[in-house]
Amino acid sequence: MTPGDELGEVRDLLKSARRILVLTGAGVSAESGVPTFRGSDGLWKNHRPELLATPEAFHRDPRLVWEWYGWRRGIVGACNPNAGHDALARTTLRNSDARIATQNVDGLHASALEKAAEATVREPLPSTRPLELHGSLFRVRCTGCPVTGKHRGPIDATSAHSLPHCSECGALLRPDIVWFGEALDPQILEEAMTLAAAAEVCLVVGTSSVVQPAASLPRLTRQSGGRVVEVNPEETSLTSAAHSSLRGTAAHILPRILP
Ligand code: OAD
Repeated sequence: MTPGDELGEVRDLLKSARRILVLTGAGVSAESGVPTFRGSDGLWKNHRPELLATPEAFHRDPRLVWEWYGWRRGIVGACNPNAGHDALARTTLRNSDARIATQNVDGLHASALEKAAEATVREPLPSTRPLELHGSLFRVRCTGCPVTGKHRGPIDATSAHSLPHCSECGALLRPDIVWFGEALDPQILEEAMTLAAAAEVCLVVGTSSVVQPAASLPRLTRQSGGRVVEVNPEETSLTSAAHSSLRGTAAHILPRILP
């Protein structure tokens, strides 16, 4: 089969399917300018996750951890959704049984959805919102009480005192991000697993598929008889388990396969 035939087959599959789960990773945002984690210039090539993305690291040096997340917020804040995010947003807006579960913390799927909704003058249903499996760069939660909330302002990481603190109890706020060694929000994970098991198609975009439990979601679809389609310029640990692997970038391929 030629790459063109495979593209056409996937397009037909996605056109006829109703229940679609889209699982995305850092690669979907690469063409927006957001760095990936494991590529040649990936964040984990130049930074050590155990010093920046664990509860122990935050306990040891919250200033350093906040400085790093402040830097990432700065990068992502200057980025916009790309043609891949936009195509996915249009699909989820049009088909209420299509849903995005993302490992990304950059908020670009939500921005694309807002943009698509504005263009169609349609209010997105809460059920179309992307499931943010690993949290968000622009949310915080309190280390001392259950307070959580949006936080888009600049982070002053010049000293431990200047870091954001809880307005309710005064304790230090932390990024609302799932760090290494931490569990995903059980409700979000359960919803993603239910959607994966029920999906006719799991479309997996821009992830190396090495971080659990996200990497297992397409396997749930396959076990329940659904199809797994991968979009990635490189081969990944999922490739051998995918029914189709489209080699190309998210911004190039997604607008060509999504109805
Ligand atoms: P990775 O950096 O591990 O993988 C990025 C994937 O995107 C690779 O397979 C690339 O080939 C692919 N890619 C690169 N450019 C692309 C493009 N333009 N279009 C499509 N694909 C492209 O990122 P993730 O798999 O998302 O967790 O990493 C998973 C988790 O590991 C992250 O959520 C993060 C990290 O530690 C936390 O921070 C909790």
